[in-house]
Amino acid sequence: MKMVCLLGSPRPKGNTTAMAAKFCEAAEGLGAEVTTFALNKLKYRGCQACMTCKTKLDKCVLKDDLAEVLDTIRDAEILVLATPIYFAEISSQLKAFIDRTYSYLIPDYATNPSPCRLSPGKKLVFIEAQGHPDESLFADVFPRYDTIFKWYGFKESHRIRACGVRDKGDVEAREDVMKLAEETARKIMG
Ligand SMILES: Cc1cc2nc3c(=O)[nH]c(=O)nc-3n(C[C@H](O)[C@H](O)[C@H](O)COP(=O)(O)O)c2cc1C
Repeated sequence: MKMVCLLGSPRPKGNTTAMAAKFCEAAEGLGAEVTTFALNKLKYRGCQACMTCKTKLDKCVLKDDLAEVLDTIRDAEILVLATPIYFAEISSQLKAFIDRTYSYLIPDYATNPSPCRLSPGKKLVFIEAQGHPDESLFADVFPRYDTIFKWYGFKESHRIRACGVRDKGDVEAREDVMKLAEETARKIMG
C-alpha cells in the first residue's frame, strides 16, 4: 500500500513528527511503502486562486515544491497529515498545502456528486498535538478537515491526538499515544 506522510511542524524532532514516525514505522513493518515530505523544508505558496485548474489544466499550474507532493498523493492509498495546533488551527505549512488541494476539484465541483479528481477510497490519518491538556479545546479541528477529505472521496479516517504536550519529545513519554499510533497502523493495514 502506498502511503504519503506530510509533516506539518517546523520542528524536525517535534511531537507530531515522533507520532508520525511511530505510525509510519509500524505501517512499513506491515508492508506500507511510505513517502514522507517535511513541508517546512519545501518552498511553496498557497493557492493563488488563478482558476487555471478549473479552466485549462486538471492540476495546479504552480511549479513549486508542492507539485511533486500533490502528484504523489494521486497514486497513494493512505494520506497521513501531521500537525501541531497553532492558535487553535493546523500549522500554516499544512494549511497552505490544504488550500492547494483545490486543484484536485473538478470545474463543476460545487454541484457534481463526485467533485474530486482523486480516485475514491483513500484513507486519511490525522495526527495532531497541542500544548493544552484540555481535550475539549481545539476538538473541532479534526472533524472540519475530515469533512473536506470525505467530500474528496476518502472512505476512512483515523485520528491520533496528543493533548498536553508542549516541548519537543514530550510525546515520547506518552505510552497511550504511541500505542494508539501502532494500533492505528494495524487497523489501517489490516
Ligand atoms: C506558534 C505556536 C502556537 C501555538 N498555539 C497553540 C494553541 O493554540 N493551543 C495549544 O494547545 N498549543 C499551542 N501551541 C503548542 C503546540 O501545539 C505544541 O507545542 C505541540 O506539541 C507542537 O507540536 P510539534 O512538536 O510537532 O511542533 C502553539 C505553539 C506555537 C509555537
